[in-house]
Amino acid sequence: MPVTINDVRAFKERGERFVMLTAYDTPSARLLDEAGIPLLLVGDTMGMVLLGYGSTIPVTMDEVVHHTAAVVRGTTNALVIGDMPFLSYQVSVEDGLRNAGRLLKEGGANAVKLEGGGRSVELVERLVEAGIPVMGHLGLTPQSVNQLGGYRVQGRTEEAHHALVEDAKSLEAAGIFALVLEAVPESLAAEVTASLHVPTIGIGAGRNCDGQVLVWHDFLGITPDPLPRFVKRYAELGDEIKRAAAAFAADVAEGRYPGPEHVYS
Ligand code: KIV
Repeated sequence: MPVTINDVRAFKERGERFVMLTAYDTPSARLLDEAGIPLLLVGDTMGMVLLGYGSTIPVTMDEVVHHTAAVVRGTTNALVIGDMPFLSYQVSVEDGLRNAGRLLKEGGANAVKLEGGGRSVELVERLVEAGIPVMGHLGLTPQSVNQLGGYRVQGRTEEAHHALVEDAKSLEAAGIFALVLEAVPESLAAEVTASLHVPTIGIGAGRNCDGQVLVWHDFLGITPDPLPRFVKRYAELGDEIKRAAAAFAADVAEGRYPGPEHVYS
């Protein structure tokens, strides 16, 4: 059965911990969908892990729409969330509505994600009113890396802690169905999680969030070291890919491939 935003809310009501993973193309989406992963995020991390940019800032709407459509083609049950890239929603609410609409109409996404509290709250209200489910994202918001002065843990001061809790409540009141918390102290994530009815999904936010999210290339061991402290590698595919490529090259060099079973008579 396809996962809906009601199922996501129900995870929290039942106290059931759940996961989200990023996906950027059809085969990865198919594998994660078959593994029963309920939420696939077509994150703007694609800029860094897939497209070779130094940050998420250059990522365009066209790129996210293109990759979202690919993920949707590989998905049967998972809820697909398209990430709103930098400047696709910060200029005006109208821009944000139109671009979020593209992720649903052209990309086939079920929902969108956008960063920030304060200025994003009005847009969230308008999107929800228009029938577009929204996932919020607070804490380390990578599209603001220049403003934040680097990829640092957020919410450490009393003022920042308070501001984040208030932003989370405002986003919930505006209608988000879930909230990503990135790189914040565990105690802050726990407080936000306890004060919201919608689930929180942590990445570097400790053990008390309702769900956890990791990035495809990080959890599979494709991203080279150093990785952030919060990443756990569940496979070493980077090493495995290099081993397989070297084995192929050696087989060809030494005449072992193609073998008789690989040729057409
Ligand atoms: O873009 C992304 O992949 C994200 C996750 C790290 C939450 O925002």
